[in-house]
Amino acid sequence: MSRLLVCPPDYFGIEYEINPWMRVSNTADLKRARLQWYALMQELEHQIGATLERMDPIASLPDMVFTANAGVLYGLCAVPSRFRHPERQREERYFEQWFRTHGYDVTLLEEGLYFEGAGDLLGFPDIWFGGYRQRTDIRAYPRLSEIFNREIIPLELVNPRFYHLDTCFCPLSGGELLYYPPAFDPYAQTVLSDRIAKDRQMIVPEAEALRFACNAVCIGRHVVLPDGCPDTMKQLEERGYHVHPVPLDEFMKAGGSAKCLTLALE
Ligand code: ARG
Repeated sequence: MSRLLVCPPDYFGIEYEINPWMRVSNTADLKRARLQWYALMQELEHQIGATLERMDPIASLPDMVFTANAGVLYGLCAVPSRFRHPERQREERYFEQWFRTHGYDVTLLEEGLYFEGAGDLLGFPDIWFGGYRQRTDIRAYPRLSEIFNREIIPLELVNPRFYHLDTCFCPLSGGELLYYPPAFDPYAQTVLSDRIAKDRQMIVPEAEALRFACNAVCIGRHVVLPDGCPDTMKQLEERGYHVHPVPLDEFMKAGGSAKCLTLALE
């Protein structure tokens, strides 16, 4: 079954502003954040049967809870992130260290080549996609293609609210793609409609995209997503998925929800 890397929100907070969701004045309620995080973990562990690997949180690194941004793993090969913002660059060594001490073969990207891990690189078994422009640099993808020996199709993200690919794009285990087309430039939209069969495209309405409906975790036939996304839930149920809505609004203050709180381990 699935193994996920997670990090408790002990030091979570809104201490800087690096995306349009974050406002330092909109303080996080740490107690609520903890409850929401534990409820998400419960769902993953006990309802879905995932195995959770907990890493230690580090004081004064409030975004470390978003482990999807730690790097990308494929087999035992790990490429840790190179964050665009200095505020998050301080997380890099802790994630790198975790990969090394847990048996992964670590390949480092050159310094200054921005890449934000599974926040921006996602895909199906036979085709991977890489979001760029807001965080990851497009130049990271030829290098990552070489490291993983996979074709990676770059997709330009044009809306600052959808700064990572996983905020607007979620490949599902049955081969469907849950996504929000206006987050992509016209060329990326064309590429997606060419590469993904029409009957596999599941379009999320704007109001639910803005509630991070696409920042969902898909494990087998289960999908965990933030609550308040009835249209997306209905579409998923019609396709036979078991849907698990969870309240995650404390994390939305930082610009994330379910998916970015987990990193799938191989
Ligand atoms: N505050 C974090 C940042 O802006 C949130 C990251 C959330 N991750 C995600 N994949 N949406 O980097």
